Amino acid sequence: MEPKRCRRVVLVPCPFQGHINPMLQLGTILYSKGFFITIVHPQFNSPNPSKHPEFDFQFVQEGLSKHDFASGNLVDIILALNERCKIPFQECLLRMMLQQESHDEIACIIYDDLMYFSEEVATNLSIPSIVLRTSSAASLLSRLAILQLKEEGYIPFPDAMSQDPVPEFRTLRFKDLPICNFGTPENFYQLLAHMCDVKTSSAVIWNTMDCLEESLLAEQQLKQFPIPIFTVGPMHKFAPACSSSLLKEDTSCIEWLDKQDPNSVLYISLGSMACTDEKELAEMAWGLANSKQPFLWVIRPGSIVGSEWIESLPEGFMEAVGERGCIVKWAPQRQVLAHPSVGGFWTHCGWNSTLETISEGVPMICRPCFADQLVTARFVSHVWRIGLQLENQLERNEIEKSVRRLMIDEDGEEMRKRAEDLKEKLEACFKKGGSSYNSLNKLVEFISS
Ligand code: UDX
Repeated sequence: MEPKRCRRVVLVPCPFQGHINPMLQLGTILYSKGFFITIVHPQFNSPNPSKHPEFDFQFVQEGLSKHDFASGNLVDIILALNERCKIPFQECLLRMMLQQESHDEIACIIYDDLMYFSEEVATNLSIPSIVLRTSSAASLLSRLAILQLKEEGYIPFPDAMSQDPVPEFRTLRFKDLPICNFGTPENFYQLLAHMCDVKTSSAVIWNTMDCLEESLLAEQQLKQFPIPIFTVGPMHKFAPACSSSLLKEDTSCIEWLDKQDPNSVLYISLGSMACTDEKELAEMAWGLANSKQPFLWVIRPGSIVGSEWIESLPEGFMEAVGERGCIVKWAPQRQVLAHPSVGGFWTHCGWNSTLETISEGVPMICRPCFADQLVTARFVSHVWRIGLQLENQLERNEIEKSVRRLMIDEDGEEMRKRAEDLKEKLEACFKKGGSSYNSLNKLVEFISS
């Protein structure tokens, strides 16, 4: 039976795939709990509203051109979004408030921590706001550590320190800190300070789980005391039907997976943003070919610098792998990871990919590219011990050995067992009575109150 809807929640995603997915999952969950949902989105990278008829979509003109987004300077893009979306967002909310009826009042605004302008607008209009953290607790703590180290004069750090443990966060080495090289350092630290600060927001929603990060979350709770933290991950498990892919998923790879042996296939994807160059591509290709393992490889159009798609794969590679390899532009990733043939995932360690992988008990080869991916790779390989990290320059012999280590060797078998154990713990979190399940119910009560 449809719940009787009362009150509206306004969601403000950051317009990139790895941020849109968790926000739309949250929207799906809150809709199922009886809220009206409005998604306020910049024009850029908008999900297709016709695929989400249950949501009301409002668009704000951010006035950035394709060229601005193509620069790849994420720090400056996000700073510009925050500057340019503020006024149109406020106008949009005022229009909504003029039209609203008593059953449809805005209960709160939930915003991605990168879209912090929303908090200022919420305060101006006296609407409560809640921050959504789409990445791990570890990644936020690592960002707080960066700000502290910067203040103490340890950053920038010399190369000789890169292997040293971070004093505030000993799991990480200095080289694992998510320090971005995009744009100027001033802009990076400005963005970091904004995204870490919850300002006047009344709560934090986190797409993570107690079974993964309980002690880090407790540390965070102390730092952000006294506002409540709702730990409701992995959200894709609460909203399994929600699909917000910006690219068309090529489902033909599922038929190819159906023909492979159980646990034999290595799935490879570097998410929606990371790119490689031709040299790395050649090393990856020959490492995979020489490993003799079957593989499903997502190569996004434009993700190889200077190429449209796969025309720069080395000569002879396709012939060498034949039917053993399948390459697609974009995969139905959650379906792929749940497929019995998939036995390993070579990932960039984006937080969504990591949660989706842990949910299916699949061990990983970690090749982080930037930002929180570095922190997550460290946790996968050294804390949860469900994967190995490729740390050096990519080289075909090392890749071949790593693939075989994960997919065939005893060592990989142990990682697989630990991944399966972690999957069970995670299931206990989101099943009835589990920590995420309970936290979600408390969140609904909190918003309703
Ligand atoms: C970005 C950052 O890079 C990441 O570090 C941060 O944690 C979130 O924002 P992205 O690089 O896209 O995200 O990685 P990730 O978080 O893994 O999100 C990618 C999403 O795209 C996942 O939900 C994944 O299922 C989906 N995907 C990826 C597909 O549906 N098909 C594909 O072929 C590849």
